[in-house]
Amino acid sequence: QDAALQGRFQERVDAEEKIEPRDWMPEGYRRTLVRQISQHAHSEIVGMLPEGNWITRAPTLRRKVALLAKVQDEGGHGLYLYSAAETLGVSRDELVGQLLSGKAKYSSIFNYPTPTWADIGAIGWLVDGAAIMNQVPLCRCSYGPYARAMVRICREESFHQRQGYELMLALAQGTAEQKRMAQDALNRWWWPSLMMFGPSDDQSAHSAQNMAWKIKRFSNDELRQRFVDATVPQAEFLGLTIPDPELRFNAETGHYEFGAIDWTEFNEILKGNGPCNRERIEARRKAWDDGAWVREAAVAHAAKRKQRALK
Ligand code: ACO
Repeated sequence: QDAALQGRFQERVDAEEKIEPRDWMPEGYRRTLVRQISQHAHSEIVGMLPEGNWITRAPTLRRKVALLAKVQDEGGHGLYLYSAAETLGVSRDELVGQLLSGKAKYSSIFNYPTPTWADIGAIGWLVDGAAIMNQVPLCRCSYGPYARAMVRICREESFHQRQGYELMLALAQGTAEQKRMAQDALNRWWWPSLMMFGPSDDQSAHSAQNMAWKIKRFSNDELRQRFVDATVPQAEFLGLTIPDPELRFNAETGHYEFGAIDWTEFNEILKGNGPCNRERIEARRKAWDDGAWVREAAVAHAAKRKQRALK
């Protein structure tokens, strides 16, 4: 009977039907989605920290307003995604517990520091640019609640990318010192942005199954290549240099070829040994503890309302 259900499930996926929370699904599909969606939600929430660092120091009111809006959007994306994960029968407390205990991953990229204002530009341009490349195909993911959440998230990410690029443009066209700052930020964020797409295809444990289930539509390497192809001309327009001596355009394939990624750095970050891993988890733990009274008050309020409704 299980084989028949599995077969029917795969037929629905192949026919591009959306799978909804109450539909039958293989346990592996459910587990994979909980893993990916919660990792994605954690990334959004932890991703508020590197940029939040600059809200109080944004150079103008206009920049501050944009940065505030962007960081708030990320908080919203996290909540949206936790809700999508909850439709798979897992609780928010459980997911947050996994993040705080170090059991659940979040994107490697958010373990790097933001020492200068140009980092805010580089994050918007490169990190959100990479995020869009990875997330637009997720709007067509086979799981309905995740796919629908991604539509709004991608629209907002697109605004984030533009504000970052525009910020980089202002710096690149500014004084020599500002241009130097922009180049320095590009130097530090370029390789970590390429790592965001995950291990190369031959090392990617989940890719084959996730593509068969149409959770993933393109492989990690395919998306990384698309990102490089889209971003190199943008760097040229800014008058900045991509920090890769091996980067070159191959006219035959129509793609840029790039140097080897330092996977040791990536693996160390995944093990918790990146420059900011401890600081990030510490900040999330503190936020969770500081928010305990709000959660308690909300539960007490809900209980009172329920009691009143029963009278
Ligand atoms: N940072 C941290 N962990 C990563 C990263 C990364 N950049 N890339 C891959 N991994 C982890 C995977 O989660 C997996 O770990 P696990 O098996 O312990 O759970 C392992 O490395 C192997 O990778 P893959 O087999 O390639 O895993 P998967 O098929 O899930 O692909 C990917 C990874 C591309 C990140 C996928 O999960 C995805 O598309 N996620 C949704 C997007 C997302 O989370 N974006 C977050 C950053 S964007 C933002 O927040 C602005």
